[in-house]
Amino acid sequence: MAADSRTIIAPTDAELLQAQADLWRHSLYYLTSMALKCAVELHIPTAIHNLGGAASLPDLVTALSLPQTKLPFLRRLMRLLITSGIFASERGADVETYRLNPLSWLLVEGVEAEDHTYQKYFVLATVSRHYLEAGLSLADWFKKDLPVPTPSPFEELHGVPLVHETTKLLDEELDSIVNEGVAAHDNLAIGTIIRECGDLFKGVRSLTDCGGGDGTTVRGIIKAFPDIKCTVLDLPKVIENAPAHDSVNYVAGDMFHSIPPAQAVLVKLLLHFFNDEDCVKILEQCRKAIPSKEEGGKVIIIEIVVDPSVGPIMYEAQLLMDMLMMVNIRGRQRDENDWREIFMKAGFSDYKIVKKIGARGVIEVYP
Ligand SMILES: C[S@@+](CC[C@H](N)C(=O)[O-])C[C@H]1O[C@@H](n2cnc3c(N)ncnc32)[C@H](O)[C@@H]1O
Repeated sequence: MAADSRTIIAPTDAELLQAQADLWRHSLYYLTSMALKCAVELHIPTAIHNLGGAASLPDLVTALSLPQTKLPFLRRLMRLLITSGIFASERGADVETYRLNPLSWLLVEGVEAEDHTYQKYFVLATVSRHYLEAGLSLADWFKKDLPVPTPSPFEELHGVPLVHETTKLLDEELDSIVNEGVAAHDNLAIGTIIRECGDLFKGVRSLTDCGGGDGTTVRGIIKAFPDIKCTVLDLPKVIENAPAHDSVNYVAGDMFHSIPPAQAVLVKLLLHFFNDEDCVKILEQCRKAIPSKEEGGKVIIIEIVVDPSVGPIMYEAQLLMDMLMMVNIRGRQRDENDWREIFMKAGFSDYKIVKKIGARGVIEVYP
């Protein structure tokens, strides 16, 4: 049925002009991503860092060994990146100085600082050709009646899942960039989490980090809480390459089959890779690995809890991370209702969102 034109309120002139500007922004945001990729590939953050943390445009052109003819183009690139919050700048009497901000600091190579985790590969993975092609195929994917569990647009288009042992058959370089990107993403802000959520680990005698990768998180926990007996469970190929550590017990295994027992099981940035059915299976194993609530048993989950109350920027970041999952992986980001549903299905009796840290939430789940 045709829409009743009387129900459509015609925009004002100002609203029309705003709508057009918003349409430009939303249609062209991919150019911000490309400008960020360009800055990473040209090593602009590292160049500014090596120039003492501040660089004029001519300094930068020289440091990057770019042709002088590119100076006006670099000025335009930097203007967009500054406006997008990727670099900072200061304008003196007649010269603008580019500076690093916390975001571009994360893109400086070779920084030896406790909380620095080089994010180059997160950027390069998310703007890789294969991810972009999956995004471009989204409308076609929606129209297809695909079998359940539904493959992601990435999997449907490229024929292999992402973050999987078969991804390298599609493209070895992509596989390696994605693995580096995921590790960089997961290891960022571990110190912050431990500082902000110290109470989580107080009184915990033993802990298993389920899908704990190379043990980076657990090593951070042991540094702050040396008395906790820590175990890392991951797949054999990951455990084989994990750095040895006197206080960490590494176990090669499969979390779908069993999880080494401990008073607390940590599940950090893992469940968003899986659909609800698989999350329930993993959490059922977590429940079997811990004692009763009275004996201090709990599962600690550190994941995004989608929630508009975190503020518009954090919420947008959460929704974009959900779209990243939808386009490329079978998993998703979850709101509190989604989390509650899978906790109850996995046989837990109760949970508490202990803290919101940035775009993430820390949840304790009790048997
Ligand atoms: C995204 S990483 C998260 C790493 C870690 N939790 C962190 O926050 O740094 C997911 C980890 O789960 C591991 N993993 C995937 N399937 C697994 C399984 N069936 N059993 C055990 N570990 C698994 C992967 O090898 C990978 O190290």
